[in-house]
Amino acid sequence: RKRVGILISGRGSNMSALVAAAQAPGCPYEVALVFSNVADAPGLAIAEAAGVPTASLDHRGHGGRALFDAKVDAILRDAGCDLVALAGYMRLLSDDFVAAWEGRMINIHPSLLPSFKGVDTHARAIAAGCRLHGCTVHLVTPELDSGPIIAQAAVPVMDDDTPDALAARVLVEEHRLYPQALAALASGRLRVEGQRVLGF
Ligand code: GAR
Repeated sequence: RKRVGILISGRGSNMSALVAAAQAPGCPYEVALVFSNVADAPGLAIAEAAGVPTASLDHRGHGGRALFDAKVDAILRDAGCDLVALAGYMRLLSDDFVAAWEGRMINIHPSLLPSFKGVDTHARAIAAGCRLHGCTVHLVTPELDSGPIIAQAAVPVMDDDTPDALAARVLVEEHRLYPQALAALASGRLRVEGQRVLGF
C-alpha cells in the first residue's frame, strides 16, 4: 500500500474521509501521517483520536516559504510518504516542494476548475449566476489550482443558496470524491497526457 501524508490547516473533514476510506479492505493507500502548519488545527486531534501519526510545525519564523517547505518535505520523507494529499492546507507551496512531489501530490479544491481558483469559491459561484458548482481533485503543479484534473463532482446551485449552504452541499461530494481519486492515484492506474489525466 502506498503511504500518504495528508496536509491540513483546519477542520480536517476531508482528511477524516481519506482516513476512513483507508480502513476498507483493498484500499491501495494507508495514511502514514497527518501534518498541519497550525498546531491547534481541529483536524489534528481528530487524526490522533483515529490512531494516525500526526505532526505540526508553525509556518512562521523559518526564514521564508522555501525553508519552511524544506522542513515539511523532510517530515514527510521521514514518515516514509510516497504520496501527499492536500486537504484544506491553506499555504502556497514553494516551487522546490512542488517539484519534489510532482505527480505524487494532489489537492481538493471547492470549485469546478478551471473556474474559481483561489478562495471564496462558493460566494463567487453564486454571484456569477452558476447553476452548477462542485469540487475538483487535481495534481499539484506550481501554478495555484491549475494542475491536471483527476476527478470532479457537480452539485446544483439553488435560487435561495447562501455560500454556507452551497459549501455544505459541495462538501458531501468532496468527501465522496477525494478518497476515490487518491485511491486511483495510489493504484498506479492514472496516466497523465499533458493537461489530461486518464484512467480515473
Ligand atoms: C474544503 O472545502 C476544501 O475543498 C477547501 O477547504 C476546505 C477544507 O475543509 N480547500 C481549499 O479551499 C484549498 N484552496 P476540511 O478541512 O474540512 O477538509
